[in-house]
Amino acid sequence: LGHTIHFFDEVDSTQRIAARLAYEGAPEGTLVVAEEQKAGRGRLDRKWFSPKGTGIWMSLILRPAIPPQRAPQLTLLAAVAVSQAIQEVTGLVPDIKWPNDILLDGRKCVGILTELQADPDRVHSVIIGIGINVNQTIEQFPEDIRAIATSLAIEKGGPVKRAPLIQEILFRLERLYEQYLAHGFRPIKLLWEGYAVSIGKPVTARTLNGVIRGIARGITDDGLLILEDEQKNIHYIHSADIQF
Ligand code: BTN
Repeated sequence: LGHTIHFFDEVDSTQRIAARLAYEGAPEGTLVVAEEQKAGRGRLDRKWFSPKGTGIWMSLILRPAIPPQRAPQLTLLAAVAVSQAIQEVTGLVPDIKWPNDILLDGRKCVGILTELQADPDRVHSVIIGIGINVNQTIEQFPEDIRAIATSLAIEKGGPVKRAPLIQEILFRLERLYEQYLAHGFRPIKLLWEGYAVSIGKPVTARTLNGVIRGIARGITDDGLLILEDEQKNIHYIHSADIQF
């Protein structure tokens, strides 16, 4: 993965560029990296703050032969790969908050956004967008996210080099992806659960259909969150915002 890298000083969003490249037939493993994003996108139609030179803003094209409903597994796989890489490079031990936020000390330092080009029965490409706050100081975050955001440098107490971290992420992603293609999601799920913070805890899930409170019981083999409410009903959550 990452044999072809498209590097940009400034883009609107690496997701958009990678989606275009994928549509034009770019091979699996093509990576788009930018120094700065003017219109970085987050999950649930949010913006992703992506200032110049302080973070890793990148999107990777994968072309797995899987049906679209399995694509969320790749988001979880990416979260494991990035967590492993952060741990390896900085010594910090991250937590994953379902589905794909990576936290240090309870604050978010990584967001992952997965987008699909697919038919009902077959995925053409999966674009995995990874945003990592690497060297921001706390003052460099917009005021409204200062209480909930952090960077690797803040947590480590010193600057972190971006290139070796990107390399380590690609290395880990490639290993896990090969394992996934050969053995399915089970081994990845176990690794994911090892990093997960929400499991076994009471959480509030804000979904498009309303708010559900309950205990997070784990994830399904497809990567959905299993939530047990106070009436002991089980809910399977595809997409939501989780609060503790
Ligand atoms: C989230 O937590 O909401 C996901 C954030 C994903 C941000 C990354 S940065 C690289 C790629 N390009 C984008 O526009 N978004 C993703």
